[in-house]
Amino acid sequence: MAQLLILEFPDPRLRTRASAVNPAWLHEPATQRLIDDMFETMYEAPGIGLAASQVDVHRRFMVIDVSEEKDQPLVFVNPVITARSGEQIYQEGCLSVPGIFADVARAERITVTALDRSGSAFELQTDGLLAVCIQHEIDHLEGKLFVDYLSPLKREMVRKKLAKQRKQTDAA
Ligand code: NI
Repeated sequence: MAQLLILEFPDPRLRTRASAVNPAWLHEPATQRLIDDMFETMYEAPGIGLAASQVDVHRRFMVIDVSEEKDQPLVFVNPVITARSGEQIYQEGCLSVPGIFADVARAERITVTALDRSGSAFELQTDGLLAVCIQHEIDHLEGKLFVDYLSPLKREMVRKKLAKQRKQTDAA
């Protein structure tokens, strides 16, 4: 396995709308390796979700594990939210926007349909953190980031803070 490079805001590649996955593509060994590498990259970061878009692969799939023990890996391929209800506000972060956290309002409860990593269709009804994470990762596949929900002024502050962080890292 290998760790992958995670694109960071405001990299324009994060704005790419991902294209649908052809199920046959899942049967290629290189695709399965890529999924394993995405899990390794997410666990190492550490994070609870990673969309393919974030590692510059513009196909509609993502990996998630919101469990404490990091033993419940989930893969969503071509995910579609078919029902949503309620509202919850959660302080979100993102591996592509390191060190920044902000409140975002999303649906409390969702139903999502997707394929798993072997290409089998499933439907999941969920709420709480997993529902937040799924909505956040699907946004990535649309080229959308959680900072897009902030005011333009706040988003500009985030961009400057990240640029400053990067400068310090480069200098170190
Ligand atoms: Ni993210």
